[in-house]
Amino acid sequence: MKTVLILGANSDVAKKSILMYAEKGYSVIAASRNTNELLKFVEESSLTKNLVDVVYFDAEDFNSHKEFYNNLPQKPHIVVYAAGYLVENDSALKNFQSASTMMSVNYIGAVSILNLVALDLENNRLERIIGLSSLSGVRGRKSNFIYGSTKAAFTQYLAGLRQELFSRKIIVNVLVIGYINTKINAGLSLNKKLLMQPDYVAKYIVGAGNSFVIVPNWKWKTIYNILKILPEYWVAKLP
Ligand SMILES: NC(=O)c1ccc[n+]([C@@H]2O[C@H](COP(=O)([O-])OP(=O)(O)OC[C@H]3O[C@@H](n4cnc5c(N)ncnc54)[C@H](OP(=O)(O)O)[C@@H]3O)[C@@H](O)[C@H]2O)c1
Repeated sequence: MKTVLILGANSDVAKKSILMYAEKGYSVIAASRNTNELLKFVEESSLTKNLVDVVYFDAEDFNSHKEFYNNLPQKPHIVVYAAGYLVENDSALKNFQSASTMMSVNYIGAVSILNLVALDLENNRLERIIGLSSLSGVRGRKSNFIYGSTKAAFTQYLAGLRQELFSRKIIVNVLVIGYINTKINAGLSLNKKLLMQPDYVAKYIVGAGNSFVIVPNWKWKTIYNILKILPEYWVAKLP
């Protein structure tokens, strides 16, 4: 039986992924700073209990990551980094602490734990690492460039990690995601026509293939392709 480690497993998207991986016959190590909530989710779901291990993981507590990794019940075949933190740009501009938390959760914590995963040569079952990034990391825009810059850094890290792990036949994917109807966006007014549901995005995680960049939903893929080539003059006119 293959094992998937999900970091930040209390995410709404991650929870849907847990259900889908379990349905596909994987055992899941669900790692979260909110283990009570996650245990409740496992209790209330149709999951076979011994297929899911809930373990404590705090993305910001970098010093704990080595011990966390060494103590995993099994070493994973697949690792999904789903932890994420978002504050609105204006607050992040005025309050460095919240900007710093975004950097820690979205980028530094990811690098800290995924480096350990990648450096573990004894884990010869590792076959894939998936990171959840964002369209806001594609171009710097005035409405969200602080969160966006943490996701841009994460995406670039994953691109290099993919090259680094290529010779070991380990695939690295980045999901470049648009708006999802999850708690990270609570209170934000987002275009409903572009809003995806967590289970829709989870299907792209669980079904990830060989491509590095995966953009769920054709509308977001179109936006992504335009954003990539749009001259800076026009990007500056966007919100
Ligand atoms: N929703 C969107 O529109 C959207 C768009 C693009 C990318 N994404 C990315 O998709 C991923 C999943 O987000 P989501 O939409 O499912 O939102 P979510 O439900 O809010 O999930 C984010 C998760 O990150 C966890 N987290 C935050 N700080 C952490 C820490 N220090 N240690 C461990 N976990 C921590 C949160 O834990 P708690 O449950 O304990 O709060 C939460 O479960 C995130 O990386 C997000 O940036 C989301």
